[in-house]
Amino acid sequence: MEIEIRKMELEDIPRVAELERRIFSMPWSTQSFETFLQSKDALYLTAKKDGVLAGYCGFFQSFDEADIMNVAVREEFRGQGIAYRMLCRLMELGRKRGILRYTLEVRAGNETALHLYEKLGFKSAGIRKGFYEKPREDAVIMWTDGAEAEA
Ligand SMILES: CC(C)(COP(=O)(O)OP(=O)(O)OC[C@H]1O[C@@H](n2cnc3c(N)ncnc32)[C@H](O)[C@@H]1OP(=O)(O)O)[C@@H](O)C(=O)NCCC(=O)NCCS
Repeated sequence: MEIEIRKMELEDIPRVAELERRIFSMPWSTQSFETFLQSKDALYLTAKKDGVLAGYCGFFQSFDEADIMNVAVREEFRGQGIAYRMLCRLMELGRKRGILRYTLEVRAGNETALHLYEKLGFKSAGIRKGFYEKPREDAVIMWTDGAEAEA
């Protein structure tokens, strides 16, 4: 069955939070996801295969800019273009809401994510020293220039 990319619903949160805890050393809580999902300025998507949560991502919008957050794909589903497709869809939906530029932060050593974001048109705009904890690591701040990759 094909990967289905849909808007994240409140009922998805327990499984999203479980995957978040599995993947990240400083995971968002169930409550954080609930707060964002109920904000009109946020948009979150899930990717599912045969009903199984394969990944998720989202953004928080501020005027014509948005911060992309919580990009994650379950380990056994990686390397199949799921993150790329989810993010293309997310950015396309954002453009319809008037978003012109996207930003995000990524661990400086996260080669996979850096490569993924570059493919989507993000460029490094600087380093935030020691931004991450567990383990402490610099963040690369990335921005699109408004000409993102096509879905
Ligand atoms: C980063 C992540 C979301 C990528 O998800 P994914 O669905 O595997 O990514 P895609 O299949 O869409 O691949 C996107 C690009 O990354 C590359 N890539 C995938 N796995 C890779 C790996 N293990 N090493 C290097 N590059 C890799 C792919 O080759 C692809 O580029 P290409 O098409 O030019 O080859 C996933 O690895 C993940 O959840 N990692 C842990 C959480 C994380 O780091 N999130 C980002 C926080 S900012």
